[in-house]
Amino acid sequence: MPKFDFPDNFLWGAATSSYQIEGQNKDNDWFLWEEERKTSFRCGKAVDSYNRFEEDFDLVKSLGHNAHRLSFEWSRIQPHPGKFSEKELGHYRQVISSLLERNIKPIVALHHFTNPSWLYLDGGWLNPLSSSYFSQYVERVVKEFSDCVSWWITINEPLVYMYNSYLKGIWPPGQKSLRKAFLVLDNLKKAHLKSYAIIHEKCKDAKVSIAKHMRVFSPCFKFNFGQNLMPAYLRNKIFNFDILDYFAKQKVLDFIGLNYYTKDFIKGSLKNAFGRDCISSHHRMRRNSLGWYVSPKSMFKILMRLKKYNLPVIIAENGTSENEDRLYEEYLIEHLRSTAEAIKKGVDVRGYFWWSLLDNFEWHEGFKARFGLAEVDSDFNRKVRNFAYIFRDICVNNRLKVL
Ligand code: BGC
Repeated sequence: MPKFDFPDNFLWGAATSSYQIEGQNKDNDWFLWEEERKTSFRCGKAVDSYNRFEEDFDLVKSLGHNAHRLSFEWSRIQPHPGKFSEKELGHYRQVISSLLERNIKPIVALHHFTNPSWLYLDGGWLNPLSSSYFSQYVERVVKEFSDCVSWWITINEPLVYMYNSYLKGIWPPGQKSLRKAFLVLDNLKKAHLKSYAIIHEKCKDAKVSIAKHMRVFSPCFKFNFGQNLMPAYLRNKIFNFDILDYFAKQKVLDFIGLNYYTKDFIKGSLKNAFGRDCISSHHRMRRNSLGWYVSPKSMFKILMRLKKYNLPVIIAENGTSENEDRLYEEYLIEHLRSTAEAIKKGVDVRGYFWWSLLDNFEWHEGFKARFGLAEVDSDFNRKVRNFAYIFRDICVNNRLKVL
């Protein structure tokens, strides 16, 4: 049977984020958003990982992972402007120690969509001081963890945050303004620039990046193909590459964190330069339980397009929500096959993180998504899905068989 050996020291793991798994995060904008009844569900205890992280990391170990991606909750660490919680810093110290004791390398994201309530109530990322506030938090965290964390993601998916929170208005603060969206993006960029410098000042060998959500945007081939080309081009330029081009030019990326899930078909629209999603006309492609197109070839294309940066790539999130185990397995193998093909063609991929370790709180979808290597029942028991064992064998052997 054909096989592919991944490079030595390849990082294998799963990714999570604080709000989605910890539970009882009451000092941030998502909590307030839910209080304001902007959603029909509450995150509440999430999957209680704040209390069960040891058990979760035993699971990680038993699944053969050698690395783990998690995020720190800014609102826990800095519950008031200028005030840091020693208790919560201590908590995250235990979390990190618990990974290191198991010989699992932590990759820490400093911002994964949620913001402290005090910042939310003071203009959020529209506040001209937002990047400075973020830098204070980063400075404190790095002082605490520079001895034990060397992989950092400053901001998870800045464009997704900007899009959902300031253009589509489906995430807090629910704004729909192109002008505001670009102001926010500008502040997020400043935050990354400052954080990159702060982390490197404390720890020269640190590896710092953002996690960049990328998709292939194809013009819808039904309904006036010619008119669909421009919005697809614009989305690719603005949502995929502009920020990477900018950071690469400033030399503030030590690697590229790629989050890849799906591709979109775009249809021109007179009202919107970015067009609209075209969902009705591509029946031949499989979709997952959330309706997302499954396209491993698009992941290969994106990886090939990243080659121009000449930087290592970590696949910082890849995964799917399915109703059947067989489909997870197919998704996993096909996307790893794309990864292997890209490595053979010279893309320097150094790691792969499945989203997610556990079924968890999926933002405006609530708990209906099922991305986990393990499902979680109402008593918070974790039950491993079969495909997680297939993934385990790949991680442990550093090898993909079906090629
Ligand atoms: C985000 C996660 C989210 C996942 C699935 C990623 O874009 O970083 O927070 O749960 O997608 O939607």
